Amino acid sequence: MITIVGTGRVGVAVATHLAIKGLDDLMLIDIIEGLPQGEALDLTHMCTTLGIDIDISGSNDYRDMSGSELVIVPAGFIRTADMSRLDLLNKNSEVIKTVSKGIKEYAPNSKVIIVTNPLDVMTYLAYKVTGFERNRVFGFSGLLDTSRYRSLIAKELGVAASSVYTTIIGEHGDTMVLLPRFTTVGGVPLESLMPKEKIQQIIERTKKMGAEIIKLKKWSASHAVGAGVAMMAEAIIKDTKSVIPVSTYLQGEYGVSDVCAVVPTIIGKNGVEKILELPLNDEERTAFLKSIETIKSAISQLQF
Ligand code: LAC
Repeated sequence: MITIVGTGRVGVAVATHLAIKGLDDLMLIDIIEGLPQGEALDLTHMCTTLGIDIDISGSNDYRDMSGSELVIVPAGFIRTADMSRLDLLNKNSEVIKTVSKGIKEYAPNSKVIIVTNPLDVMTYLAYKVTGFERNRVFGFSGLLDTSRYRSLIAKELGVAASSVYTTIIGEHGDTMVLLPRFTTVGGVPLESLMPKEKIQQIIERTKKMGAEIIKLKKWSASHAVGAGVAMMAEAIIKDTKSVIPVSTYLQGEYGVSDVCAVVPTIIGKNGVEKILELPLNDEERTAFLKSIETIKSAISQLQF
């Protein structure tokens, strides 16, 4: 069973993509009475229409996550366009603490994907509060930020976005580090296809894309989040060993410790099975360390 805690727009988008993949039965949990139950019925009928035979239930009780192999946590408040993701720290840390305690008690053997912002800080908090091994608690965002970057590159070059390969490191926030040197278009280095200034423009727009979307649709991005989280869930359930950038607890990798940040990892049935280290140049390393400092300073505001 896969549990989703938080069934607002993001949680429902995650549930929709998971259901369409038909990976496993779903349990939707939310504190709002009726909401997860109603969404579960609606999604059940979607699956009936599509011929997907999984069981989907809704509950207001954390006990119902018992037996989950995977718990996905999009619970919490979203920001408005004028807020940074870090502005959500105080409100959402209370939510993540409560949910993490519930997971520790009722799904002690699960893997946990955090989706709530500020992503790296909330992942750190969930890792500490659950006390699970670090491979079992990690954060979604890399597939979201790289999807934005890849789609902008694809549009500019007139190629399929699926042919643009890349990775990302650092914070899911204003200091995220996009990596043109590690970006290729079907294996051809991006830097040989596009002038530096254009790449820089795309990077800047990617960094602000979350806010651009909130400003336009008056709500946080959800569809791309749902698709990306479901891809991570599939990598876990099917043990695919997919290489996916996720926020994970670092213990010396990239020369930093006691912080969660996005880096490329191998995802399989045990969660984060390996952290891959990129050979960064000085400029990239400096940008990464700036990102780490930002996350660490936010972590220092947490109260356990
Ligand atoms: C975004 C928010 C959800 O990047 O972090 O869209």
